[in-house]
Amino acid sequence: MTRLYLNPLPVRIWHWINATGFVALIVTGVQIRYVGLIGLMSFETAVDLHNWIGFVVIGNYFIWLLFYLSTDKVKAYHPDLNPRKYFRETFRQILYYGAGIFKGAPNPHHPNPYNKFNPLQRMMYQIVMLLIVPLQFVTGLLLWDVKRFAGAVELLGGVRVVDTVHVLIFIFFAFFIFVHVYLGTLGHTATAHFKAMFTGYEDMEEEPGS
Ligand code: HEM
Repeated sequence: MTRLYLNPLPVRIWHWINATGFVALIVTGVQIRYVGLIGLMSFETAVDLHNWIGFVVIGNYFIWLLFYLSTDKVKAYHPDLNPRKYFRETFRQILYYGAGIFKGAPNPHHPNPYNKFNPLQRMMYQIVMLLIVPLQFVTGLLLWDVKRFAGAVELLGGVRVVDTVHVLIFIFFAFFIFVHVYLGTLGHTATAHFKAMFTGYEDMEEEPGS
């Protein structure tokens, strides 16, 4: 058994504040958008909570960003500059998730602190963290005070457009969390990845990759 330090403290702090915040934003978001579907709190309370948690989650994002901008661990997020190798490894990972895993085949990806994501995770986390999450923050901020940001809202096509983008991304995250948590259970035991996101260390059966 090999022990690897995969998740440094700032990543773990960011991740669990972010995860709790996103779940709370989704619940309060459902309460705001689909009035009558759930009756957990009043509309006003839901709006207040949604705004406050939104600011906490935006501030928290900078823990993740500044950590990765200030360390060589950012290599885990770098795209593979060899497209043939990248596509071959992506295909291998898809085959593993789609078939191999059900036959007990070993995971083709062997993580280490500089290469901790398999090619699917690397692509997905780049898109989520650098595109979708910031877009959700910007649209949320504009909707928080449409009068103050009237110029920017108009530039983007008006309140309806900004609101539609915000709601579509909210629906994306409601699904993302289920898929993400399912994939989180696919370590060498069902809880290995979750423990590693709390302790920083992941126990592996195989040797770390290069
Ligand atoms: C209930 C909610 C969540 C749970 C239980 C959870 C669980 C996990 C676990 C176990 C890992 C480590 C394994 C892996 O890398 O896949 C992880 C990593 C990660 N999660 Fe989550 N997650 C949750 C919500 C979220 C949300 C809402 C986001 C983004 C908006 C997110 C983004 C990420 C990212 C980017 C990583 C890689 C972090 C890094 O090492 O740099 N997670 N999550």
